[in-house]
Amino acid sequence: MTQPSGSAKLTVEGREFDLPVYSASAGPKVIDIRSLYSKANVFTFDPGFTSTAACESAITFIDGERGQLQYRGYPIEQLAERSRFLEVCYLLLYNKLPNQQEFDDFRTSVTMHTMVHEQLINFYRGFRRDAHPMAIITGVVGALSAFYHDSTDISDPEQREIACIRMIAKLPTIAAMAYKYSIGQPYVYPRNDYRYAENFHYMCFSVPAGKYRSYEEVNRALDLIFLLHADHEQNASTSTVRLAGSSGANPFACIAAGIACLWGPAHGGANEACLRMLREIGSVDRIPEYIGRAKDRSDPFRLMGFGHRVYKNFDPRAHIMKKTADEVLDLVGSQNKPTLQVAKELERIALEDEYFQTRKLYPNVDFYSGIILDAVGFPTDMFTPIFALSRTVGWISQWKEMIADPIQKIGRPRQRYTGPVNLNYIPIEER
Ligand code: CMC
Repeated sequence: MTQPSGSAKLTVEGREFDLPVYSASAGPKVIDIRSLYSKANVFTFDPGFTSTAACESAITFIDGERGQLQYRGYPIEQLAERSRFLEVCYLLLYNKLPNQQEFDDFRTSVTMHTMVHEQLINFYRGFRRDAHPMAIITGVVGALSAFYHDSTDISDPEQREIACIRMIAKLPTIAAMAYKYSIGQPYVYPRNDYRYAENFHYMCFSVPAGKYRSYEEVNRALDLIFLLHADHEQNASTSTVRLAGSSGANPFACIAAGIACLWGPAHGGANEACLRMLREIGSVDRIPEYIGRAKDRSDPFRLMGFGHRVYKNFDPRAHIMKKTADEVLDLVGSQNKPTLQVAKELERIALEDEYFQTRKLYPNVDFYSGIILDAVGFPTDMFTPIFALSRTVGWISQWKEMIADPIQKIGRPRQRYTGPVNLNYIPIEER
């Protein structure tokens, strides 16, 4: 760490402690409390990490109040308009935009690793046909460490590098295979002459019996979804990857842990939950009922695709996604779909509602990504796998950064114990 930029005073029951303060290149400063427990014998208490920075990172910056997102310093709006997912992968992994030669080499490297070990197919057969693809993907990605022994030694930079490439290259293949398995169609091998998003679309939608057709607009929309989900600093799944990695676990195991965490409806599962909700609402006249439920504290229902821990302003990704949703829906002629009409009206009503305004609850990226994915033909249970394959580059970049970080330690949160102490054991016959 650099030199402190100042100090903070903490008074604990009359005793005063000086704590160093470090500035950040953007965003809030941090108070370094690492010595607090040894000096003051107290823990800080922050369930949900609402005010806790758990690491230093130079990958992604979010200003939630202003609704800004930057990858390696580049605003997301510029990247969305001018770059492509694979170039953004390079940027996230290597901290610079590639020149043409670097990009060509990177693309070759990724495309040369898109196939998975043929024996992995046996794993798929072990799952029930109706298994959720996220369940399959979590298992298969974890199993990669049983197949690629030459990239599990985390102390070897070359092995770390190849693990990163493998992960970015294979996730689309693994996700597409999970989809094909669930619908009973033959697996489709990747094609290295297709671009990243197009190849994924091809592996999901082509069949040996027919001619495959893709649309540039759809490929571009998919690529954009990948790009907008590529990283999002220390969210729940990324923190899970870091925590798993802090013990020295191999990268495949760490990413499998991240995928498991992403699945929850409060995180990556929100896009699927959002579309299910739009379908359940069904028609515009039922929206007030659901808005009422979302506002009712005694009802656990929440408007899926609304709200964010960090963004207390419009999610910048949602702005971009909304525009693309309109374009894709025009292309596939879905502008009159009931789910879309419900989505548009729900957004309008919620944005004007005092409950959502005061709590700064705006539509997030998942509100629109589900609408796009639905329009281009993906079933809802593929939405979160698509989020997972997009976020893989973020997870692996954060993992790589963590492994190389000299201040990194095994993650070990503490607790405020509230259970009983010093009970006497009573034999079962006396209880
Ligand atoms: N619908 C209705 N009320 C909500 C919602 C919602 N979607 N989100 C938050 N609130 C209310 C919440 O009840 C609370 O109200 P009160 O102050 O009266 O108790 C207040 O807003 C603050 O909520 P919170 O739970 O303290 O906020 P959080 O930062 O812990 O949660 C969240 C963030 C994303 C988990 C939450 O907004 C949510 O559950 N949203 C729906 C799920 C969703 O769309 N998740 C995708 C997030 S974006 C993709 C990703 O990064 O994974």
